[in-house]
Amino acid sequence: MKITVIGSGYVGLVTGTCLAEMGNQVCCLDVDPAKIAILRQGGIPIYEPGLDEMVKRNVAAGRLSFTTDVAESVAFGDIQFIAVGTPPDEDGSADLQYVLAAARNIAEHMDDYKVVVDKSTVPVGTADKVRDTIAATLARRGADIPFSVVSNPEFLKEGAAIEDFMKPDRVVVGAEDERAIDVMRRLYSPFQRNHDRILFMDVRSAELTKYAANAMLATRISFMNELANLAETLGADIELVRRGIGSDPRIGYHFLYPGAGYGGSCFPKDVKALVSIGKENGHPLRVLAAVEAANDAQKLRLVDKVVARFGEDLSGRRFTIWGLAFKPNTDDMREASSRVIIRELVRRGASVAAFDPVASHEASRVLEDVAGVDFAEDMMDALDGADALLIVTEWKQFRSPDFEQIRARLKAPVIIDGRNMYDPAWVRGLGFDYLAIGR
Ligand code: UDX
Repeated sequence: MKITVIGSGYVGLVTGTCLAEMGNQVCCLDVDPAKIAILRQGGIPIYEPGLDEMVKRNVAAGRLSFTTDVAESVAFGDIQFIAVGTPPDEDGSADLQYVLAAARNIAEHMDDYKVVVDKSTVPVGTADKVRDTIAATLARRGADIPFSVVSNPEFLKEGAAIEDFMKPDRVVVGAEDERAIDVMRRLYSPFQRNHDRILFMDVRSAELTKYAANAMLATRISFMNELANLAETLGADIELVRRGIGSDPRIGYHFLYPGAGYGGSCFPKDVKALVSIGKENGHPLRVLAAVEAANDAQKLRLVDKVVARFGEDLSGRRFTIWGLAFKPNTDDMREASSRVIIRELVRRGASVAAFDPVASHEASRVLEDVAGVDFAEDMMDALDGADALLIVTEWKQFRSPDFEQIRARLKAPVIIDGRNMYDPAWVRGLGFDYLAIGR
C-alpha cells in the first residue's frame, strides 16, 4: 500500500518505518528541513532502540523516503497519517493547529480518494473538525473528491515502540464507512498474530479510548504513590503491598510501581487534556484531577526527603542525581521528574552533579537556565564530595553498583532512592542511610 505520514517526530517516524518494514511504500513528511536532512543521510533525530537500523534497512530497500514537499507527499499516499504534535494550550487542552493545518494541506493537494488517519492524540471530536476542514478546503477548490477520516490512536511506549507497533496488543480503529474500514483492515492485517487484534469502533470511541488508557495507567501510578507515602508513615512496605494486590488478576502487576512521579510526553499531557475535556463538557473528572495533583506533589517527594534530612536551607550542599530522562532507555526529558527536583534543590541553595547514560545532553539543554548543575560522564565521578545520592530514573546500570565505591566517594553514605532499586535491609547493612519510596 502507499502511505504518507505527516510529521516525522517520534510517533510518525515509528509508524512510517514499521509500515515500510511490512512491505508498504511510505513517504514521511516534515516541515523541519534539518530533521529531513538527517533522516535522508540515514541518521535518526531521536533515540529509540532498533529504529536506527530499521530506518536504514527500509530506506536502502526503497520502501521509505523523506520529504519536506507537501504536494509531493500528499500525491504519494492513498492513506495519509496525521502524526503531528498536539502540545497543551495554557488551559491544558490540546492545541490542534498543526493537525488542522495538515488536514488543510491534504485537501489542498489531493486529487483522488484518500483515507486520512488521525494518529496524533487528539480530543474527542477532532476527527469531525478534520473532516470539516478537508470538506471546506475541497469546496473552496471546487473539487468533488471522496475521502474518509479515521481515528487510529497509538499505544507506543518509548524504548519499546518498535515492539509495540510490530506486535500490538490491539489496534484501535475508529472508522465509520466501509471503504475506510476495508483499507484499514488490509493495512493492519499483517500485524495480527494468533487472533484478531483490530478493534473497529466509531470514531469518537476510538478517540476517547486513547485518553482512557493513559488516564487509567496514570491513575494506578498516582494511587500507588499516595499509598506508598502512607506506608512510610504506617511502617508498612509498599513493595510487599504491591505484590499482594498485583496477584489479584483483576488488578494485575503492571503499572503499580511507586516512584518519583510519572513524566513523559503522554501521561501528563493526556491527563491534563482529559481533565479539561471533562470540565468543558460539564462532567468534571474528580478522580483524574486528583491524579494530576498527586503526581505534581510526588515529583517533589525526593526533595521532601532531602529537606527532612538536611533542613530547608540547602546552601553549600551538593547532591548527585542518577537518572535524568523521564524513564530508562530514552533521552526524553519531557515532564521528567528530574527537572523539578534539580530546580528545587538549586532554588534551595544546593549544587547538583547529574548523570544519565543518554539524556545528559538533552538535560543540559532544558536546564540551561539553572546555575550550579554539572553533568558527569561517569556515574561514579558524579558522586565525589556529594552529601547524598538521589536516584530518579531506574536505568539498569544502577541496579547493581559498587556500593563500596559509592560510600567512598560520597561525603556521607546517604542514598535517596526514588525508584526502589535496592533491598533496604541489604543496603542498610552496608552502612548506608537508605531512604526509598514507601518502605
Ligand atoms: C505511555 C504509555 O505506556 C503508552 O501506551 C502511550 O502510548 C504513551 O504513554 P511512555 O510515556 O513511553 O508510554 O512511558 P511509560 O513506560 O508508560 O512510563 C510513563 C511514566 O510513568 C514514566 O515516567 C514512568 O517512570 C512512570 N511509571 C510507569 C511509574 O512511575 N510507575 C509504573 O508502574 C509505571
